[in-house]
Amino acid sequence: MPSATTSLQHKKILLGISGGIAAYKSVLLLRLLRQQGALVRVVATREALQFVTPLTLEALSGERLRVDLFDHDAERAMSHIELARWADVIIIAPTTANLMAKIALGLADDLLTTICLATTAPLFLAPAMNVMMWRAATTQHYY
Ligand SMILES: Cc1cc2nc3c(=O)[nH]c(=O)nc-3n(C[C@H](O)[C@H](O)[C@H](O)COP(=O)(O)O)c2cc1C
Repeated sequence: MPSATTSLQHKKILLGISGGIAAYKSVLLLRLLRQQGALVRVVATREALQFVTPLTLEALSGERLRVDLFDHDAERAMSHIELARWADVIIIAPTTANLMAKIALGLADDLLTTICLATTAPLFLAPAMNVMMWRAATTQHYY
């Protein structure tokens, strides 16, 4: 039986990061997933980069960070549809109120939301926001 420490060996995880203060914790999550043997590709929103740096995410994942939908070089290497197919699972941590609402509505106006719409992989969201944002009727409705 595989031990707990090898349970993520070769699992392909797409880690989405959106623009909330808890984005600093994504760095630790990324490290832990890699330590468990997972292959991790990171897709961040533009706003997420206010909180974490591309250099940190690329150094820890060992992969090029993806942010823009219209990044021609990156799209040639692996298109957003291929990325959506590549993932065994998508984890978005943290998920902002904004991103949660966009996913619920099926919007696809950046790379991360487009991948969410195009994937058949299980999607795990880790909502993180101010308590009033969390309690807002629209947030509760979409959650
Ligand atoms: C300092 C700061 C911290 C923020 N923290 C959060 C947060 O924890 N959760 C959240 O939902 N939005 C937070 N926001 C607001 C989001 O950054 C904003 O809604 C943004 O448009 C989200 O973009 P994204 O969902 O595309 O990443 C914060 C904004 C600032 C300036």
